[in-house]
Amino acid sequence: MRFSAVILAAGQGVRMHSRLPKVLHPIMGKPMIRYAWDAARQAVQVTPVVIVGHGADEVREQLGDEAVFILQEAQLGTGHAVQQAAPLLKGKSDLVLVTYGDMPLLRSGTLITLCEAQRNHRGVFTMLTVTADEPRGFGRVVRRPDGRILEVVEEAQATTEQRSIRELNCGVYCFRADWLWETLPKIALSPKGEYYLTDLVGLATAEGNEVQGLPLTDATECVGVNTRVHLAEVEMVMRSRINEAWMLAGVTMIDPQTTYVGPDAKLGEDTLLLPNTIISGNTHIGNECEVGPNTIIENTKIGDRCRIIASMIENCEIEDDVHVGPFTHIRSGTHLAHGVHVGNFGEIKQSYLGPHTKMGHFSYIGDAVVGANVNIGCGTVTCNFDGVNKNRTEIEDNVFLGSDTMLVAPVKMGAGSKTGAGTVVTKDIPADNLAVGVPARIVRYQSSQDKE
Ligand code: UD1
Ligand code: CA
Repeated sequence: MRFSAVILAAGQGVRMHSRLPKVLHPIMGKPMIRYAWDAARQAVQVTPVVIVGHGADEVREQLGDEAVFILQEAQLGTGHAVQQAAPLLKGKSDLVLVTYGDMPLLRSGTLITLCEAQRNHRGVFTMLTVTADEPRGFGRVVRRPDGRILEVVEEAQATTEQRSIRELNCGVYCFRADWLWETLPKIALSPKGEYYLTDLVGLATAEGNEVQGLPLTDATECVGVNTRVHLAEVEMVMRSRINEAWMLAGVTMIDPQTTYVGPDAKLGEDTLLLPNTIISGNTHIGNECEVGPNTIIENTKIGDRCRIIASMIENCEIEDDVHVGPFTHIRSGTHLAHGVHVGNFGEIKQSYLGPHTKMGHFSYIGDAVVGANVNIGCGTVTCNFDGVNKNRTEIEDNVFLGSDTMLVAPVKMGAGSKTGAGTVVTKDIPADNLAVGVPARIVRYQSSQDKE
């Protein structure tokens, strides 16, 4: 069987009251349309066709070259929207899956079940339905006395009796392709001036064709986003789905309600996430780590057995057994080797800290390469900016920096060298030397033999 998929995403989303096209509003940091796109692609294993209209360029830009787009210039309804794909898809597949760009909770597994149900069905299409007490403006599924589906009536056209029907149309269908392309042009203009895709139900049954309903088991899957209230509802469901999956995979969350793990993050077993922790982007955290409370980690790779307390880390790499925080900001391009300790109120930017280096309190390290076993004394600052350029600092292995050392970059501290408290280093200090004062002078040469 050959499949194709159409995602409807041309609507304006007026009720969002937003400059941003509705389908680009993020859920757990990822634009809504991406969820629909991923689910459809996983289900049919071909590139879905996305019908775009409002904010078409922005939507195109978001999905990029991966997707195929068709512009629906005027939004004349869901039937008209699917019709736009006819020139591209007619004759190209046996079954057509139709889904929406604003239903991010719909699982690929559900779409697969829908396609399977239609494969095994004699009739012309299968539609997802849901039984719910809150109809949310959805079309009502009208059945015959014998239980077979007769038609779908939109809320605006429904009689009072039809409005009380609790079986609703989710708006997601799997069609027999030849029948779909042949019948779409027969849809008549609705009283509201739109071509309703849902009219296909009545058209099919009038011809004596069967339409099959597939009831959703998890009603949250068909929550569509029309307002920012729906956006928050969807966000909450998505968050708890992701959190539950990680908890079942061995991650402990003290308070899942305040723990945010993005859809692309990966977490290791026996890792503990404490309240108010936000893990986003392409972040990977290893096993047996303890993260939080009050921590933000973005696009960062973290090894095993790390402890991160009340800190912010973005675009970094952190090896095993590293301790960070509380109250530290580790900025882009930083790499902390194994066993590093970064304590209170520190900031590190675009720097490498070698194995077991310690930076306990109130320091700024920027544009620096720091070796192994370095002690960065309280209040040390790499003075990396001269007003024009960012300059580099090099600190070799086993250096000891006294409290309040100022390293005026570009500058290098040779291996095993030391500074006294309050030293302002303006020139390179050779290996194994001690520097003190402002500006620093070398007071004692310590040869390698003396050291032993
Ligand atoms: C539609 C269904 C309704 C179903 C509901 C479920 C119709 C006529 N009604 O109603 O039975 O219960 O979905 O959510 O189909 N779109 C386009 N181009 C258009 C119009 C819509 O791309 O010209 C897209 C929208 O961006 C949206 C989707 O199609 O993603 C659904 O459109 P919407 O207007 O929200 O349909 P509903 O009124 O919700
Ligand atoms: Ca809708």
